[in-house]
Order: sequence, then C-alpha cells, then structure tokens
Amino acid sequence: MAIEFRPCQFHEIDQLQDLFVAAVMELTAGNYSLEQRMAWALSAADKVTFCARMEARQPFVAMLHDRIAGYADLQPDGLIDHFYVAPWAKGQRVASGMLQHIEKLAHSKEMTTIHSLVSLTAEPFFLRKNFVVVERRIATRVGVTLPHALMKKDLTLKSTRESLPG
Ligand SMILES: CC(C)(COP(=O)(O)OP(=O)(O)OC[C@H]1O[C@@H](n2cnc3c(N)ncnc32)[C@H](O)[C@@H]1OP(=O)(O)O)[C@@H](O)C(=O)NCCC(=O)NCCS
Repeated sequence: MAIEFRPCQFHEIDQLQDLFVAAVMELTAGNYSLEQRMAWALSAADKVTFCARMEARQPFVAMLHDRIAGYADLQPDGLIDHFYVAPWAKGQRVASGMLQHIEKLAHSKEMTTIHSLVSLTAEPFFLRKNFVVVERRIATRVGVTLPHALMKKDLTLKSTRESLPG
C-alpha cells in the first residue's frame, strides 16, 4: 500500500508524542539500555514543550493504512530534527519514503546538504542512504549519556541525484 505524506495538523501532535515514545522504547532496545531509553523518552514527556517544539519544527506525517506511521521534518539549515517510525510500521519502507520526501523538499529549496543527529539504531539506515558520519557525540539526558552521531548527506553527488524518483 502506498505511503502518503502531508503536513502534521495541530490536533495530531499528541499522536506524534506517543509515536516518539513508542519508537524510542521499542525500536532502540538493541543499542540502548532501559535506563538510556527512558531518559531519551523523557525528553518528550512534557506536553507543552513537545507541542511547542513540533509547532516550531512543522513536521510532516507519513500515512499508511490511514494511520500515522512515521513523522519527520526538515529545517531551513538542512537539519532533520525528528525522524521516527511507529513500531507497528517498522520494515515497511516508511523511513525510506520519509527520507525521499525530505530530499525532494531539500532539492526544491536548493539545499546542497542535509544532516541529522542520528541514533546508533538508525545509523545503519542512514549509511545505506549515503549519509556519512561527521562526528560521534554523546548527549546527556537527566544525567544519562546517549551516544549518537552527526551524519550528513551531500545532495550534489551524482549517485544521490539519480536515486531520487520523479
Ligand atoms: C531506523 C528506522 C528509522 C528505520 O525505519 P523503517 O521504516 O523500518 O526503515 P525502512 O523499512 O525504510 O528500511 C530501509 C532499509 O534500511 C534497513 N534498515 C532499517 N532499519 C535498520 C537498522 N536498524 N539496522 C540496519 N538496517 C536497517 C532495512 O533493512 C532496509 O534495507 P533494504 O533497503 O536493503 O531493504 C526506524 O526503525 C526507527 O524509527 N527506529 C527507532 C528510532 C530512531 O532511532 N529514530 C531515528 C532517530 S535519529
């Protein structure tokens, strides 16, 4: 079934919050301990702060079977701030579709690079999509350390342009 992309509506932000927590808690267990996942998920616990961040970031949602299967965003400086897939939708190419959508947006805005702070879990996915690790970093959430990587993709590379549909 086709995945569709559209801007997130304000009343859907609650669903993004639930999706974020579920993705972090259920999909990253292979790389992060329970303590680390709880600390990461806590960053979305305050509804007001999460809503304010989403309103500022203006994410889009990926719709599959009439449900929100994932969400992501692209900021004016090329940053992908949030990039999350619902556990029930894992492995159905939602992330691939979201990244294609982001790259189309980036090309339409004449961006030459995009970048993200990527979890250890998502790193192999981004590597497959021609991102490179720029720097390894460690974030601290409520006193708990979370290793991740700054990853970047050069959109001017010929192989990258050819991979874009339409
Ligand atoms: C990592 C994540 C984004 C992948 O989403 P997804 O929709 O399952 O990915 P897709 O179905 O589009 O997979 C595309 C390809 O990447 C591969 N892939 C996806 N996740 C992978 C992983 N964790 N490790 C290795 N390969 C992975 C798939 O096997 C597939 O390979 P193929 O093209 O050879 O068939 C998703 O599982 C997720 O949200 N994880 C937890 C939260 C997270 O870390 N978010 C990112 C914050 S930066």
